[in-house]
Amino acid sequence: MNRTILVTGGLGFIGSAFIRYMLNIDQYVKIVNLDKITYAANPDNLKGVDFSRYKFAQGDIGDETIVSNLIHFNNCTHVVNFAAETHVDRSIMGECSFERTNVSGILNLLKVCRDKRNFIKRLLLVSTDEVYGSIVEGSFKETDILRPRNPYAASKAARELFALSFYETYGLDVVITRGTNTYGPFQYPEKVIPLFVTNALEGKNLPLYGTGLNIRDWLYVDDHCRAIQLVLSQGDAGQVYNIAGHHEITNLCLTNQLLKLLGLDESRVDHIEDRKGHDLRYSIDDSKLRELGYQPRTSWNDGIKNTVNWYNNNQEWWKKVKSDPAYLEYYKRQYRKV
Ligand code: DAU
Repeated sequence: MNRTILVTGGLGFIGSAFIRYMLNIDQYVKIVNLDKITYAANPDNLKGVDFSRYKFAQGDIGDETIVSNLIHFNNCTHVVNFAAETHVDRSIMGECSFERTNVSGILNLLKVCRDKRNFIKRLLLVSTDEVYGSIVEGSFKETDILRPRNPYAASKAARELFALSFYETYGLDVVITRGTNTYGPFQYPEKVIPLFVTNALEGKNLPLYGTGLNIRDWLYVDDHCRAIQLVLSQGDAGQVYNIAGHHEITNLCLTNQLLKLLGLDESRVDHIEDRKGHDLRYSIDDSKLRELGYQPRTSWNDGIKNTVNWYNNNQEWWKKVKSDPAYLEYYKRQYRKV
């Protein structure tokens, strides 16, 4: 089948993993990557990809002309959107790019896909389990009410609603995935796992928020990409699919495991002020995705060992990121008390 996928935000963590994954599993697929190259994007993430089937364009999903031309001149058949502001702490700081990229940008992408329906067979929106908010017991299903509790999650919920409205109103074929906390190589060191691992490797402490009893469910990035591909090819139009990790642990437990893998002890933890409105627990039920045949392949033990080893063996990658003045400025603002 002739498939040319416009991937937006393909220089980020999950987007770049998805591109590597697709080029690897499908010898016929072509990828066009549109990325604005904001702070978390990194061209090094795609070093060595097969350029005969991969094209890059720098630009914004909010730019109608560039999106429309890319679809038109490359005969794109699918769009997979990763482009987003994704860090909760930055949204709490009040960065207004959340509204611009996550809501207005998506609205533009939807409008272009609607107008180019003769090209685009399907648009997949990569979303998050954070749109449900926090849950004390049990797990959220796709039909549960959305109660996002931080500005980042609210912006993701808003874009989902716009996307589903385009399905209902214009018949645009839209599918949505709600993934849980994802980890693996090439993740920008503002998220907890790469931040803690690289801090430890640099001899710095690990800034743990509040009690450390908040629970997250961990999904290895390659499994996340396989699930996205499955929904893209086999999901039903207008539907939402949860992607769980099936490894729920407290942040304290996560921190201790990382320290153990790195041969360090608890004295390296700084217990710092809690995140505002910190969601206690995320948990989602992915039986709908499993009905499509999905099975995660990477166990937590293998995934976290691979990840720690990767950061250990690729210090050049993250040292470049962490020495960037914009990163240092963010770190100072966020962790000023550490
Ligand atoms: O659930 C999916 C979501 O997971 C994605 O949609 C988001 O884009 C992604 O950022 C992630 O959100 P979290 O807020 O859960 O991830 P983060 O890595 O920022 O934090 C994970 C947990 O670790 C959270 O309970 C807060 C805690 N934490 C985080 C940082 C950065 C700390 O204790 N200290 C830290 O310095």
